[in-house]
Amino acid sequence: MSDESFISIKNISKHFGDVRACDDITFDIRRGEFFALLGPSGCGKTTLLRMLAGFETPTMGEIFIDGQPMAAIPPYERPVNMVFQSYAIFPHLSVAQNIGFGLRKDKLSKAEMDKKVDEALDLIAMAGYGGRGADELSGGQRQRVALARALIKKPKVLLLDEPLGALDKKLREQMQLELRDLQREVGITFVFVTHDQEEALTMSDRIAVMRDGKALEIDGPVDLYEKPKTPFCADFLGTMNFFEGSIDAIGGGEATVKTTEVGTIKSTGPNMNFSTGDAVSAAIRPENMKISFDKPTSGSFMEGKVRASAFLGDRAHVYINVEGRKDPVLTAMQNMGGAASRVGGDDHTVWLTWSDESVILLPQE
Ligand SMILES: Nc1ncnc2c1ncn2[C@@H]1O[C@H](COP(=O)(O)OP(=O)(O)O)[C@@H](O)[C@H]1O
Ligand SMILES: [Mg+2]
Repeated sequence: MSDESFISIKNISKHFGDVRACDDITFDIRRGEFFALLGPSGCGKTTLLRMLAGFETPTMGEIFIDGQPMAAIPPYERPVNMVFQSYAIFPHLSVAQNIGFGLRKDKLSKAEMDKKVDEALDLIAMAGYGGRGADELSGGQRQRVALARALIKKPKVLLLDEPLGALDKKLREQMQLELRDLQREVGITFVFVTHDQEEALTMSDRIAVMRDGKALEIDGPVDLYEKPKTPFCADFLGTMNFFEGSIDAIGGGEATVKTTEVGTIKSTGPNMNFSTGDAVSAAIRPENMKISFDKPTSGSFMEGKVRASAFLGDRAHVYINVEGRKDPVLTAMQNMGGAASRVGGDDHTVWLTWSDESVILLPQE
């Protein structure tokens, strides 16, 4: 066992009757890493997490944690603890009693117990709250107490199933940062389930993007966003304009794609492993397509008409109709100095420009 493969998931499948909740999943999680399982509802995230915890038995495959095969190890003997979305804390107990709950069988003296609980309260920035009733807490505080209770036993791995799902947006964003800091502080490996792309991007060292029971791509947030290898991942993490076509020429880190709708698009971006004639999409992120009110004199561009713009305050999404193309092209612009509020949606002619480096070649689905 190395730190690289602290958790090893090998060919794991879980079938419920005809449903393949997890379908031949293989990857490793590093020691001390904040690792997210990201995917749409029903893709198998919770099932995989429950197999790590020992609450479900794999139909096939093996799981190792810290070099130890987990097959014969019941949940309560595994070096893991789990935190759920519906913070399962006891409303009739105090905060301190809730946090100390997992220690009650450890035969500690009262002083030792109090010390551990105080340390845990410090960790979640709730020193002095020990005597409070758990039913007197806000949602965010309750979730912190659930975390402290899970961490007090110092598990090697903390499994978190959409733990911030019940919180409103502002609190959720604040807790994302707090949880990330907490993980760095305790150095425990976190495996975090979410269906929220931004949450996974904000918090994780690495992300496994899942779909239909499979782990499609595993990488760090920046690489997954900037160099996706599948159309699903490109679209799920953020938004993408796809221009479908086939490779016209490729070589020397450069390719041209003959698209079916908008002529030829050049790419000097990632993913050059294609051959002439391959069906691909030339994919460009909205923020990499800029609107110009004058016809460019050089570089790559296409002409279009502003169809609509959605003003979002800090930025705007502008939809551009391009002749020959069915769906409008989406661009995103920052509202710096009021730029976004001046675009309008009145069908006037504009040009979209982009850099060839930002064009990502992807296989077609
Ligand atoms: N105990 C179960 N019995 C039958 N089907 C299940 C069970 N648990 C999960 N499933 C199915 O397995 C698939 C994956 O579920 P789940 O792991 O909960 O997805 P996620 O957490 O990504 O939303 C879904 O189709 C779900 O209905
Ligand atoms: Mg789930």
